[in-house]
Parts: sequence; C-alpha cells; structure tokens
Amino acid sequence: MQKSIADSKSSLPVVTLRTFSKAPSVETSGVENTGNADLARYERVISAVAEETSKCGADIFISVQDGDASRIQSAIAEGGNLGSPLQSGGLEAQFGEGLTGGDLIGWALSIMDHIGAKNWRPIIRPPDTTADALPNSGRMAILSDWGTGLYGAPASAASIERTGGYEIVWHLGDVYYSGTQREIRSRFLDLWPTGAGKISRALNGNHEMYSGGYAYFDTLLPEFCQPSSYFAFQNDHWIFVGLDTAHTEHDLDNEQVSWLMAVLRKAGSRKIVLFSHHQPYSRLDKQGPKLQEALKDLLQMRAITAWYWGHEHNCVVYDRHPTFGLLGRCIGNGGVPSPRYSEVRNALQYLESAGVRWMRIEPNDNAPGCLVLDGPNPYVVGEEERFGPHGYLTLEFDGERLTECIHLPDGIEIFKMDIA
Ligand SMILES: [Fe+2]
Repeated sequence: MQKSIADSKSSLPVVTLRTFSKAPSVETSGVENTGNADLARYERVISAVAEETSKCGADIFISVQDGDASRIQSAIAEGGNLGSPLQSGGLEAQFGEGLTGGDLIGWALSIMDHIGAKNWRPIIRPPDTTADALPNSGRMAILSDWGTGLYGAPASAASIERTGGYEIVWHLGDVYYSGTQREIRSRFLDLWPTGAGKISRALNGNHEMYSGGYAYFDTLLPEFCQPSSYFAFQNDHWIFVGLDTAHTEHDLDNEQVSWLMAVLRKAGSRKIVLFSHHQPYSRLDKQGPKLQEALKDLLQMRAITAWYWGHEHNCVVYDRHPTFGLLGRCIGNGGVPSPRYSEVRNALQYLESAGVRWMRIEPNDNAPGCLVLDGPNPYVVGEEERFGPHGYLTLEFDGERLTECIHLPDGIEIFKMDIA
C-alpha cells in the first residue's frame, strides 16, 4: 500500500546527493578559472546543497532555504535527464551532459543572476478591505509546505478529496524547488484536491519567490480564481486572514499591514485567526522578529486568537503565548521529509496515537512550550524511521466554536482541540 503511493508519483524528479556528486565543478568543467566571482558563487552553492543533501540521505528530496540553491535544483530537475525510480519515491534527476550546453558559466549565470529581488513579479494586492463571506458553520482543510508531489503529500490530498465538503481548502505556501511554471503544475496543481472545497486558496512561500513569483501569481492564483496573495474571509463570529509573508521575505510591508488593520477594524468583535507561510516565533527553528514588529500592536493587545503557519517542516502545537495570548501552530509537515530532531525524540512523551507520538518540549525565551509530532513516516519508503510524520489540518467552525484537528496523510485524527 505504502509502496504503491511512492510508485504512483514516481515520475517527479528528485535531486539527490548522487545527482550533485556528478555536477561539474569549475575544475572539472574545463573552464579556465580566473577568479570569476560567479563561478565561485556556483561552486559555493553546489557544495552547500550537497552538504545539506548529505544530512538527509542519498535518495531523499531536500529543500534548501536559499534562492540560488533552489533554482539550481529546479534547473537540474527540469534538465530532462531522469534516472531510475528511487525506492522512497520519485525519479532521480541526473546532472546530464546536455544541461549546461557546454557553457558552465552561462548556465550558472542564467540560474543565479536572472532572478534578483528587483526582478520579482510585483505583488497582487486585494482590491479593497472587504472580507469574503463564509457561513457560520463549516469546515476548512489546510496543507502547508506540501508542494513536493511526493511522500505523504498525495496521500493527504487524496484524504481531503475523499472527505470533501470543505468551505475552503488552502495551502500555506512552498512549491519546490523554486515554484517554477512546471513545478506549480506538476508538484501542485496536478495533485490539488480540486473537488474537496468550494474555494481553493494558496498563500505565497519563499520557494515560490525563488523563481520570482511569476508562476505563483500568474498561473496558480488565476487557477484558484484568487484575486490577491493576501485576503480575508469572515462570518458572524470569526475572521480568517491569509497573509503574504514571502513577497517581503519573512515580513509584511507597510501597505499589507495597513490593509490588515483596516480589515480588522471593520471586523468589529469577531475573533481573529491568522494564516501565513512564515512563523512569528519558533521553539525549534528561526524566529520571526520582523513579523512580530509589523504586528506588534495586535500582538500586545492580545487581539489574535490563533495563528497557523508552515515554513518549518514540523507539526508543532504551542501552548498559549504568555505575552501575545494566542495559540500558535506550525503545520509545515505537508510533504518535505524532515529529519527527526534528537531533542524531540528524547523529550517526554505526552501522548501516543495511531503509531505516532506527541512529545513535550519546554518553553524557552523565544517560544512557549509545545507538543511536537514525532514518529516514523511510512511514506518515505525505506527511510521510514528517519523522518517525521506528514499530515494536514482541518478546522471546523460552528457559531462561536472553533475546533482544530490534525490528521495523518491517511486522514486519521491524531490531535483535536477546541480553540474556542
Ligand atoms: Fe518556506
């Protein structure tokens, strides 16, 4: 059963450690190295990705939080040469002869210099400060960091499709490796549970912006009939706001903050739930100081009831934040294999459910205490014990009540809590 899941998506390319071992170095390419800064940059990126890839094992998909590296991964994956199927899923991408056309400098330059922040696709903003209407009772399904097309990602989509009846199905961002046109199609839209919800929405992620954001804004958003990269929905009791924290990296520009404040002023006494790609804080990874600064008034007023984000490829349920008063959740375990942290594996077990465990991590200066999902990932075939579980979130709203539920890719519920 699990093997067939991996096999069913085996045509998607995976850039592995072996792929990088065959990437030409400047030395072996025959190019005369005369201190060319671009070539030095190319070599730095190739070795950085190879190092990152080595942490995950020879056969596994890896995402790197770096634009140059992600674009090189996309270029290799789309280079046309694919090797044999990998046991864990996907086809191994090859650094083939034809990839650089014999012009390593030109190839490297075309990847690394073509898309700088100054060439990014301009953001598409909401036309006004009106929140779209939602009924007072209904359900939403939310995936994040799901755009690999591999491992637990197709199984989660299939479960969401099978359950169906959602008001909104949305993605909190990241289509790998760099959100190119081909990747938006093959790793995202081809697998999206289109029939599961009345509305589909996709937030922007850093990986979409690594290719300049063109495919996200010009292909994905029109496909979803989504007018802008940030937006709001509301009913009589709740306002749900999706933010674009990627067009300005891990931040919000002043115009988006002004829009948010205007939308929330009009929302009156409705309770606020935020959704974003990036984290405002983390117990296990980097912090979000710019997001905290941009929204400091809301946070200090304890105005936000809950905030869901991705970017980190873990599933983390935080205790209520002592200063901000909100319940934070990271649900970035949508489709990237994430090596299990020893800190989590060695923590105190809080709960075991369906073969996975919730581990209790104590607070530190950055973040409240939390439960972190740990356990094997049966969708990374052959490396099950090495990577944490994939899955997705559903939210059920009924009047003033809001209930969250975390699922494994096969749909099994492993955590349920009333937010309000
Ligand atoms: Fe991300």
